[in-house]
Amino acid sequence: MWSGALAIPDDSSTENIVITGFMASGKTTVGRLIASLTERRFVDTDTVIADRAGMSIAQIFELKGEAAFRALEQELCRDLAAERNLVIATGGGMLVNDESRALMLENGFVVCLDTPPELIRARLAAATDRPLAGDWEALYAKRRAAYAAIPTHVDTLDKTPEQLAEEIVARWRSASR
Ligand code: S3P
Repeated sequence: MWSGALAIPDDSSTENIVITGFMASGKTTVGRLIASLTERRFVDTDTVIADRAGMSIAQIFELKGEAAFRALEQELCRDLAAERNLVIATGGGMLVNDESRALMLENGFVVCLDTPPELIRARLAAATDRPLAGDWEALYAKRRAAYAAIPTHVDTLDKTPEQLAEEIVARWRSASR
């Protein structure tokens, strides 16, 4: 049950809380809940990239190509790593880039959401707006090592977004003590 018991403002740490993980692992939903628990500003990187480009992520891929999207992603990562007190949900590929991952790890508490492939498959089957959803299995295998290089992981299986948010806030609080 959603207790809200952790909704106590805490300014003991100003480092960003960064939620990453594969497509459809719930990053945005969980990130929003964490922002509300910690009374911080929430930033979804895909939303900012789409705003900056004046078009949807699918349109960026279609009209400008993946390399252009990755360049925008890296630029935004540098901008956000220079800020404080944010809760950030990244696009699934953002921290696969070594430089971006190192930057976020240096400047924030980074959590990788681990979601089993069966769940990803079911969620992506319902998605229409993810340009890389078609070949997700190859991507999932290819990215394993990059995600594994993130020290903090949370298993999402059988947990509600609220439970995940509470677990991550608790881990962040004990890590930043
Ligand atoms: C991508 C994931 C997407 C989005 C873009 C590329 C990826 O975000 O950034 O389509 O490379 O994994 P979500 O993880 O929120 O779907």
